[in-house]
Amino acid sequence: MTQSLIKPLSINDLAAMKQRGEKITCLTAYDASFSALIDKAGIDIMLVGDSLGMTIQGHVSTLPVTINDMAYHARCVSQARQRAFVVADLPFMTYSTIAKAADNAAKLMQNGVQMVKLEGARTEIVSFLAAQGIPVCGHLGLLPQSINQLGSYAVQGKEPVAADKIMADALSLESAGAALLVLECVPAQLAKAISVQLQIPVIGIGAGVDCDGQVLVLQDMLDISIGKIPRFAKNFMQDAGSILAALQNYHQAVKQGQFPAAEHSF
Ligand code: KIV
Repeated sequence: MTQSLIKPLSINDLAAMKQRGEKITCLTAYDASFSALIDKAGIDIMLVGDSLGMTIQGHVSTLPVTINDMAYHARCVSQARQRAFVVADLPFMTYSTIAKAADNAAKLMQNGVQMVKLEGARTEIVSFLAAQGIPVCGHLGLLPQSINQLGSYAVQGKEPVAADKIMADALSLESAGAALLVLECVPAQLAKAISVQLQIPVIGIGAGVDCDGQVLVLQDMLDISIGKIPRFAKNFMQDAGSILAALQNYHQAVKQGQFPAAEHSF
C-alpha cells in the first residue's frame, strides 16, 4: 500500500497556529469526495458535524443522528483526508454518562478521527476523555442538541449574566482538558474576550472575526443548503468558477481576516 507523503496536522500544529496568530480554517465534511476536495483547498480542520442530520439525512434537527451514523461518516471523511485535522461530533445523548462517552468516543476515534466534540460545559466528561488520551473539542453558545430546551436558534450570551456564564464555562472546559473550543452564535465582543483569555484555539461560527479560526457548514457556504442560509454564513460559490475555487476563497478570506465581515456577526 502506498503511504501519503503529506503529514496530517496535529493538535500541536493547531496550538502553534494560535500562538503565531495564524487563523485556523474549518469546514464540515461528511463524505470522501468532499473530504479530498476540502483537503486540496488547504482547509486546516474538517468537522464531521452532527449537522449531517439536516444536510445529509434531511431531518429538522441534529437529534435523530446516531453514533453509528457518525462513525460511518467519520470513516468516509478520514479515509480520504491527507492533511486536515479531523474532528467528529458525539451526537445527542451519547455522552450522558462517563461510560457512554467512553464507548462512543472510542467508536469515533477508531473510525479515524483525531478529536471528538461535545456540547455544553460537560467538564467531568471532558476530563475523563482527556485522561484516556482522547482530545476533546468543547462547544458553547448556541447548542443545537438543546434546541428543544432553547426554543430557537437565537444568538446566545447577549445579556451580561449569560455572557459571564459562557466565559466561565469556556475557562472550565479549558481547565478540564479541552484542546479546542467551538463558539456558535455569540456576540463578536464576547467571542473576542474568550479567544484572548483561553490558551486553546477558539473556532467561531457566527461569533465574529476575532476568534482564532472559523467554521461553516459546507452546504451553507456552497449555497446548496435546504432552505435559507444563516446570516453568519456567506455564499462562496457566487464568485467562484468551481467548488474547489469556492473552498480556496473561503480559506483565503479566513486566513486574511476578511471573513466573517460585520454583516455576518452579531
Ligand atoms: O454539527 C456541526 O456542523 C457543528 C458546527 C455548526 C460547528 O457543530
